[in-house]
Amino acid sequence: MKRQILTTLTAVALATITNMASAADAAAGKAKAGSCAGCHGPKGISIAPTYPNLAGQKEAYLLAQIKAFRDGARKNAMMEPMVKGLSDADAANLAAYFSSLK
Ligand code: HEC
Repeated sequence: MKRQILTTLTAVALATITNMASAADAAAGKAKAGSCAGCHGPKGISIAPTYPNLAGQKEAYLLAQIKAFRDGARKNAMMEPMVKGLSDADAANLAAYFSSLK
């Protein structure tokens, strides 16, 4: 019983930390996502076989990819200009938005 309570408390604490770490704002991301829809679709489901779906993808993964394109670590001629001017906050908000889509 004691052990179960401890496990529950740990889970709650971890969930709280995770929520705090993600200060991203999906609504703000949605407002910025208009330019992404042309390829990734208005709901994050892409319009062509060579464009990836973003809907429901892991938030941390999306964020890492957006930053990688922006910073030149991942190269793609289409993506680079799309994310070039994004701040870290913009990138986090976009990741939160696309991740929240089903
Ligand atoms: C002109 C078409 C186009 C537009 C507009 C576009 N993308 Fe992309 N995006 C692509 C293509 C193509 C890829 C795959 C790149 C590759 O092969 O590495 C991609 C890949 C990605 C990935 C990585 C997905 C994965 O599974 O690894 C993310 C994240 C992403 N785009 C986010 C965005 C965001 C956010 C926007 C809007 C700011 C955007 N894209 C606008 C074409 C586009």
